[in-house]
Order: sequence, then C-alpha cells, then structure tokens
Amino acid sequence: MPAGFQQLGGETVTGTLALSVFTAVLGSLEFGYNIGVINAPQKIIEEDYNATWVHRYGQPIPTGTLTSLWSLSVAIFSIGGMLSSFCVGFISEWLGRRKAMLINNLFAFIGGSLMGLSKLCRSFEMMILGRFIIGAYCGLASGLTPMYVGEIAPTSLRGALGTLHQLAIVTGILIAQILGLESLLGSEDLWPVLLGLTVVPTVLQMSLLPFCPESPRFLYIIRCQEHHAKSGLRRLTGRQEVGDMLAEMKEEKRRMDMERKVSIAELFRSPLYRQPVVISIMLQLSQQLSGINAIFYYSTSIFMKAGVQSPVYATIGAGVVNCAFTVVSLFLVERMGRRTLHMLGLAGMCICAVIMTMALALLDSVPWMSYISMLSIFGFVAFFEVGPGPIPWFFVAELFSQGPRPGCNGCGWLLQLDCQLHHRHDLCGPYVFLIFAALLLFFLIFTFFRVPETRGKTFDQISANFHQRSAGGMMDMDMDMDMDKPSTEL
Ligand code: GLC
Repeated sequence: MPAGFQQLGGETVTGTLALSVFTAVLGSLEFGYNIGVINAPQKIIEEDYNATWVHRYGQPIPTGTLTSLWSLSVAIFSIGGMLSSFCVGFISEWLGRRKAMLINNLFAFIGGSLMGLSKLCRSFEMMILGRFIIGAYCGLASGLTPMYVGEIAPTSLRGALGTLHQLAIVTGILIAQILGLESLLGSEDLWPVLLGLTVVPTVLQMSLLPFCPESPRFLYIIRCQEHHAKSGLRRLTGRQEVGDMLAEMKEEKRRMDMERKVSIAELFRSPLYRQPVVISIMLQLSQQLSGINAIFYYSTSIFMKAGVQSPVYATIGAGVVNCAFTVVSLFLVERMGRRTLHMLGLAGMCICAVIMTMALALLDSVPWMSYISMLSIFGFVAFFEVGPGPIPWFFVAELFSQGPRPGCNGCGWLLQLDCQLHHRHDLCGPYVFLIFAALLLFFLIFTFFRVPETRGKTFDQISANFHQRSAGGMMDMDMDMDMDKPSTEL
C-alpha cells in the first residue's frame, strides 16, 4: 500500500478496492489515449485521406476539403462525448455502475475496430465514424469512472482516489504520444494499429470487471438491496462490521430523496443552488476554455512553427510535464487547498500564453525565441495540471450532494467544444492564445471573487455556507475568510 494513502486517510486500501479503482480508471486511460493519439500521426493520416481521394476521384484532394475532413475527424470525438455524457445519469441508474461500464466497452470495441480498419477499407468515413463512437465511449466513461470511484472510496480517501481519474487520463495521453512516434506505431503502415490499440484497455477492463463489486451505495440507495450492499462493503473494506457505513448511506438516501424534488429550473432559481451551479459551470469552462486541448491536439504543428528541431519529442516532453504535475497537484491539493491551486494554475497559464504569443511573433527576427516558446508551452501545461486540470473534476462533486450532480456532469463535455477555437487557430495563427489568455484572466478574477475553499469541509458545511451566503450579501466576506482558514478536521 502506498504510504501517502495511509497518511491521508488512515484507511486500509484492500486488494478489492485497489483492483476496483484500477479497473475503473482504465476507462480514463482510454479517454486520455484517444485525446493524445490523433496528434502525432496527423500528416500521415492526411496523406492516406489524400490517397483515398485519388483512388476514388482520380485527382488530389483540395486543400480546403482535407482541412475540413481532418478537423471533423478531430472534433467529432467531442460531439460523441457530449451526446453520451448526457446519458450517464440515466444509464448508470438503469444498468448499475458496473454493468454500464461493462457494456460501454462495446462502443470502444466498435469505435477502435472502425478506426483500425479504415485504411484497409480505404474509407475516411469509417475513421470519422470510429472517432465519433470512441468519443461516445469516452463521454460515458468520464462520467461513470469518477462516479464509481467516488462511491466505493472511503470518505477519507475520496479526494486522493478521485485525482487518479485525471492521472489516468494524462497517462493515456502520454502512452499515445510515445506509441505515436514514427519509429514505433506512427508510421504510414502502422497507424491503423496505433488507433486500433484502444481496444486493449477495453479487453482488460472487461475481464477484470466481473471481479469488482458493484457500488454498495448504488445497491443500497437506488436498488434498496441491503444484503448485497453489505457484502460489497465487506469486500471493499475488509471489515466484517459495516453497520456505521450503512447508517451513513441511509442518511444520504434520505437527503437524496429530498433533493430529487428539485427541478432543473429550480436549480438555477433557488439562491441555495444557484451559486454552486454557476461556480461549477465556470470551473468546467475554465478547464476547457483554457486552451489546453489546442496544445494537445496541435502541439506537434505548434512546435514545428516554433522552429523546434524534433517537434514530436517536444510533444512527448509536454506529456511528461503533464503527468508529473498531476502528481504534484495530488500531493498539494490537501495542503494548499483547491482555490489557491486553481488560481495559481490560471495565473501561470495566462502568463505563459502571453509569453508564447510574443515568442512566436518574434520568431522570424530572433531565432532563440524558439526555446522561449517551447518553455512557455511546457509552463502552460504544468500550470494546467496544478489546478485547472484535476480540480474541476472533483470540485464539482464536492459542491453538490447526490441529487443535482449528474446534471452537472454533462457540462464538461458540452464545453469540450472548444474545438471551435481550433479552426480559428489556423486563421489567426499563434494569436489565438491571446484569446485564451484573456479567458484565463477572466476565470482568475472569477475564482478570486466567487469560489470558496472546500478543503477539509464536509458536504453539510459546504452547503451550509452557501446557505449563509445566499441569505445576505454581507456574509460573503465572512464566509470567504472563514473558508480560507485551514480546517482542523483532516
Ligand atoms: C482534462 C481535460 C481534457 C484535457 C486533459 C489534459 O482531463 O478534461 O480535456 O485534454 O485534462 O490533461
């Protein structure tokens, strides 16, 4: 057992808990893999699109058509994810968390196979459809994984285990970047294998899921199966006596039954919920509109423009920085707090974006600017993982208890549409990062004035504070100051 875990919660991590969390985050790994995989082999796949065009119509593909087809192949992933993420709530209640994850793997299988076979069948339509379906898989997985992990984790480990979702995402991105090297699988002949490999974690997850218990919270709260919930809890905790946990679930069920009656319109109208809803949406926005995916989808071509000698290795460097700083955040988040880290991340990203823009603009007259632009890209990624990367995933879950949470899940994917900005990236070149810098500054100011600290607070305390806040504007300052104080509870 990793020593850090014991310090954090004083809980024992049983084999079953470790296996279940590992199995679940294989979905996050696959999500990350598909974010990263499309970057390095862009030119090679585009050549194949061209070859298909020549084969069909006897002439090379017009540049505009190629750009559109490629942008579609990249962006349709987010559309699939957005559509499916709105079904997470419904599917996870209908099938249960475990069966939903199991069946979701079918999407990964179909999507991976379509992409893997598209070259053989000379069909970019298959590739685009495959990206759409794998996107749908990822939308479901990115809702189901944090939900399952959050539900099976002991309260004291919920934050640490929750961060593993983002850690698995960034690990997936890195694996894809490394395998995407031309000397490995990013070659003219092997790129279909690279894209098809996404079925490997799928097979692994499918074979491990039968050994993982269904979420006891789901069994008890939604299905009212006390007996099954008990045996699941025993396996997860390694304890025979689980009465206290069942009592806690009973309390959660009572709260949830009350929350169920809150309609979506009320969620926005009621002063009690409005604040957390607005804050959640803004945090998700700050993650997606930060420009991070512009870096991950297009880093190779940005590095190329920046005059970097081996752009693909620079992209892998960015992936390593990405992983390393997620681990840094994992250890800092309980010490420095969510709010501070998020603001630090946004401010750092904003400064890096400005430096990057200036460096790219000066590149023609000052050659050593290529180093500055590379460093600022690394800095941009590092600051992202300090705050805006991992924090919104679990912060949103901290602001709400069970009831309104699923509705807010979809927002993240809705916002993955920052792909829109990617198209403009081609039009206005590096200056697009000035748009991101302005957005980052805006989110920084918002976080400073509106986002409270939740570190060490129980759900009850957090919502009680929102209650106070909505009761009178005068309380605002008191609450901020009170919530900034380090809590003695952890
Ligand atoms: C987060 C974002 C995802 C991004 C990734 C990069 O998981 O949701 O869009 O690509 O971080 O590390």
